Amino acid sequence: MILNTPLKIKNITLSNRIVLPPMARELSEYGKVTEELIDYYSKRADGTGLIIVEHAYVSPEGIASKRQLSIADDSVIEGYKKLTEAIHSMGSFAIAQISHAGFESISENKVNLNRMALEDINRLKNAFIQAAVRTKEAGFDGVEIHSAHGYFLNQFYSPYTNKRTDEYGGNLENRIRLHNEIIQEVRRLTGEDYIIAIRLGAYDYLEGG
Ligand SMILES: Cc1cc2nc3c(=O)[nH]c(=O)nc-3n(C[C@H](O)[C@H](O)[C@H](O)COP(=O)(O)O)c2cc1C
Repeated sequence: MILNTPLKIKNITLSNRIVLPPMARELSEYGKVTEELIDYYSKRADGTGLIIVEHAYVSPEGIASKRQLSIADDSVIEGYKKLTEAIHSMGSFAIAQISHAGFESISENKVNLNRMALEDINRLKNAFIQAAVRTKEAGFDGVEIHSAHGYFLNQFYSPYTNKRTDEYGGNLENRIRLHNEIIQEVRRLTGEDYIIAIRLGAYDYLEGG
């Protein structure tokens, strides 16, 4: 059966094609990896080709839920190292998912993409880029950029939510400019072999989406 055959992606070879999708477990403490979280992923890594670890916020104002993981500063890296070691020791691979919830955030300082100055966009672009670099330092095999579920990057992508009139709004090329800028810089900083994935919400299920 094809599910049980290896799959090469860039420089890693998965033992099979079974993948755990990212699912927020609310098991972190102050944004950091806990023993409970390591235990949860270790169990699921057994016999699974690839684990996509649940989303982590790139900046505190993009937090989506109370006990979400953080990847917003270097203090979290040690915890992730233990997590990636645990997943690897089970014969699986690990991709991190990085997110910013935009106006879906539970933070009081959440951002609205239509009211952001270019310097604010640049600040969050850099937050995504720095977060992606941290995932590599933490031992992940790749990073997935979260642009689905109505979050910040999905809000840029969708004509339903993106009402900007500058180079980040309007036609499709403009609405994915930020994504492209992030990906290009992450590729430059993490090297050719690092897996860069993007999760796109392809459909709004709304009129004008
Ligand atoms: C509790 C829970 C947490 C989730 N957290 C995330 C997440 O962190 N990132 C993400 O991209 N999707 C998240 N999802 C969506 C899942 O990755 C997946 O797309 C969804 O469960 C549908 O899967 P299915 O098509 O196999 O039913 C979450 C889903 C659930 C149920």
